[in-house]
Amino acid sequence: QSSVLHKFKGILFSTMSSEELLNSLDFFNAREDDVFLVSYPKSGTHWIAEVIGNIPNAQISLTSPIELGDISKFDELKMNCKRRVIPTHLSYNMLPVNIKQKQCKIIYIIRNPKDTAVSLFHYYRDNPNLPGIETWAAFFELFLRGDVVYGSWFDHVLSWEEHKNDKNILIIFYEEMKRDLSKSIKKITTFLGINVSDSEISKIIARKTSFSEMKNNAAKENCDPNHTICALTSNRNLVFRKGAVGDWINYFTAKQRRVFDELFTEKMKHSELARHFEDYF
Ligand code: A3P
Repeated sequence: QSSVLHKFKGILFSTMSSEELLNSLDFFNAREDDVFLVSYPKSGTHWIAEVIGNIPNAQISLTSPIELGDISKFDELKMNCKRRVIPTHLSYNMLPVNIKQKQCKIIYIIRNPKDTAVSLFHYYRDNPNLPGIETWAAFFELFLRGDVVYGSWFDHVLSWEEHKNDKNILIIFYEEMKRDLSKSIKKITTFLGINVSDSEISKIIARKTSFSEMKNNAAKENCDPNHTICALTSNRNLVFRKGAVGDWINYFTAKQRRVFDELFTEKMKHSELARHFEDYF
């Protein structure tokens, strides 16, 4: 693997996540009103962050990812006086212990792993902070083995699976957001205890967070490192590719589909979250 990644506790991380910071995660001081926005990369993190950022009167402040940067990170987060919404791609096990003790609210967004794999493949190709990759076939193997940044999709989801019924955790599916964004927005605002019942507001949020709107805005703005959502880039132009459900069909060969389905069945046989994807395979 290229030098832009390093391994920490067996998981690949970008060098923008310093080892020192990763080693210190358990010293992070969570606040009771913190909200964590958690995902495996390419699951729709920017989208849901934009939704949350556009909730009227939410009185929140979106920070950069907890695992991005060096040890000065915690001081930077401490300076933020508002209710913090903190993104991260960490698995449940790596999440700072204080967040679990204080039972901070956590939103976990999941996406069909086939689409996630294709999206991550393009991210590897386009993002200078990730290793170069020659072909989809080569990437497919890495993805299956979990030899990619933030490790195996399967392990990541399974780490959250065990906590899916915790009352401080809300699970949102990318495909559900595509199908009925208003419903997802309602779930999120109810979960956060923000009063936005007005359906008009849902409409405003839906317009502002549409794929085309977000893509256009990304092209217009200069990248601001303080508004980084994913620890793998602060260049939002790398994020908005296609924004579709089912694009995997254009990449997977019949054999890859079989191999993937076999592994999925084996790894996810006890997973209720995984059942959600049956319609999309
Ligand atoms: P694709 O590469 O399939 O297009 P993340 O934010 O976790 O990095 O996820 C990025 C993926 O979410 C990309 O998928 C991106 O296009 C998609 N995405 C971002 N904003 C979106 C939106 N408003 N609607 C639908 N998909 C969106």
